[in-house]
Amino acid sequence: MQFARRMDQFGEGIFSQLLDIKRKKLEKGETIIDLSVGTPNIPPAQHIMDALCTAAADPKNYIYAVNDQTALLEAVSSWYDTRYGVTLDPKTEICSLLGSQEGLAHIALSIVDEGDVVLVPDPCYPVFADGPLLAGAKLYYMPQKKENGYVIQLQDIPVDIAKKAKFMVVSYPNNPTTVMAPEAFYLDLIAFARKYDIVVLHDNAYSELVFDGKTCGSFLTFSGAREIGVEFNSLSKTYGLAGARIGFCVGNAEVVSRLKTLKSNMDYGMFLPIQKAAIVAITGDQGCVAVMKDAYERRRDVLCDGFKSIGWNMEKPEATMFVWAVIPPHYEKSVDFAMDLVEKAGVMLTPGSAFGPSGEGHVRMALVQDEAVLQQAVEAVKKSGILKA
Ligand SMILES: Cc1ncc(COP(=O)(O)O)c(C=O)c1O
Repeated sequence: MQFARRMDQFGEGIFSQLLDIKRKKLEKGETIIDLSVGTPNIPPAQHIMDALCTAAADPKNYIYAVNDQTALLEAVSSWYDTRYGVTLDPKTEICSLLGSQEGLAHIALSIVDEGDVVLVPDPCYPVFADGPLLAGAKLYYMPQKKENGYVIQLQDIPVDIAKKAKFMVVSYPNNPTTVMAPEAFYLDLIAFARKYDIVVLHDNAYSELVFDGKTCGSFLTFSGAREIGVEFNSLSKTYGLAGARIGFCVGNAEVVSRLKTLKSNMDYGMFLPIQKAAIVAITGDQGCVAVMKDAYERRRDVLCDGFKSIGWNMEKPEATMFVWAVIPPHYEKSVDFAMDLVEKAGVMLTPGSAFGPSGEGHVRMALVQDEAVLQQAVEAVKKSGILKA
């Protein structure tokens, strides 16, 4: 058998190694607290699950959906209007996705040809880079460094690279660094994209998980954004619907239309009961969104305050469901710290280097365990003595 050379660029990587260690430890009867993968463990609100169950009990809903139902497109349009103050044409500016990951993985196929340049953040949520790589693109990494508040420095992108780039991926609140970008960044971004004729993909997966009374809007509220780009959104974290796979790509009609054409050759659309659940989620009582945000905010406090109390200081994230922490000074590499932590404390997190070269020196912890378990994680780290040189 012979296989595609394009797959040579994807290895099993650190996650497989960590999972292997986890499996061995669990087989020995040891406890593992897994903070590595961002799989939410907070269920959706009852009214959303009820809508899904009712629709799933209707035999008529088992046909291929093929397209987004008009009711879904109108619901997304009204949600963007109410929540973000952005008017979207349901017919031309909205495309549903089988999770935003799916859209982010595929969209490159509709924009780039083999060898084209794509700008991605570093560190980077993996699919931002993997989608373009699958499409044969060449990546240019835009560093997100601590000294710059983890925000991309557009002025540092070489002019010859900018001239060649076909699209760029930007995402704030950011995974893994957790920061939001200031308004000025978005104004510069739109000017930059216009100047070099670059399509902007803005991923807004965490706009609802913003803490300490702050709020976050949409990229599309900025003047000129719709002329150069689209926004990806997801119901996974906001409504606890990760397994249902519901995302959207909204904004520039040309980009949306190309993505729709691509997808129409790939899938038969979102399962109708899931479309109905999505409508109920985004048009129904939004109290559950605040409940979700509060739960993550409390978890953040337990973990960050807990680690601080045992001598590991870290910035409290202003948003997302992650903590991005600088590793203790006696470690040089985030992988070594992550491996020691899982071996000695039974706490599993993701080394920052797994997200790109600029992630080195950090680790990412996902707030995917209840408060009591996060407290246990703090105690296990304390007991292991790993924080002392
Ligand atoms: C920044 C970011 N974008 C997209 C996704 C994928 O979300 P979805 O479940 O909609 O595919 C995630 C999931 O962790 C994420 O962190």
